Amino acid sequence: MTQQNGKKLAAEAAVELIENGMWVGLGTGSTVYYAIEAIGRRIAEGLKIQCVCTSRETEKLAGEHGIPFVDINRAETLDIAIDGADEVDDHFNLIKGGGGALFREKMVASLARRFVIVVDASKRVQTLGKFKLPIEVAAFGHEHTARRIAALGCKTYLRHKDSVVYQTDNHNYIYDCDFGAIQQPAALHEQLKSLLGVVETGLFCNMANDVFWSDGEQVGHLVS
Ligand code: A5P
Repeated sequence: MTQQNGKKLAAEAAVELIENGMWVGLGTGSTVYYAIEAIGRRIAEGLKIQCVCTSRETEKLAGEHGIPFVDINRAETLDIAIDGADEVDDHFNLIKGGGGALFREKMVASLARRFVIVVDASKRVQTLGKFKLPIEVAAFGHEHTARRIAALGCKTYLRHKDSVVYQTDNHNYIYDCDFGAIQQPAALHEQLKSLLGVVETGLFCNMANDVFWSDGEQVGHLVS
């Protein structure tokens, strides 16, 4: 319950940054859910914004909460994007993709002037890597891609959901990769991106501007 309160408080604090007329990126996941709820309430009170979503799941939620959204190609830039993370370190490096939306999340974040992360306190770590790193790969030849990834020093696990291979919104697969402690996340991301078949990694480095976190009682705010 405390973890849920932490998610809610962090998300609601971030939503305070949104102002009339802004273009807003909406992330994916159980923490962003609370941000979407809060944005929905503000829209009902008269807030006028335009949004871009990072997943079909978020599009559905946005629709349910009366939040207007458009195709990403209609947005030149975004004033702000709010998203969750699976792990965040003190240098604003992130692991994302536990919910499978990492590619769209990174595309949306790349358009944002301010990329704001919302997490409960349990997501803050000294070193990334306890959470297996999600890597989105093309379905074609995915086992070859997985072998190339494994050769960089990890164990790879093809993601399944309900006993079938999980497919992203982009019809790709995800390998959850156990590298152990990731000491140099930016370098690892570059190595992975150079492999044929890798679409995107869940390492988000040099992207986040703010982190709102909460233990369910107080809210902390880190600015890069
Ligand atoms: C979605 O693919 C992810 O990047 C999420 O943002 C991340 O997994 C955090 O999700 P929760 O807020 O549900 O923990």
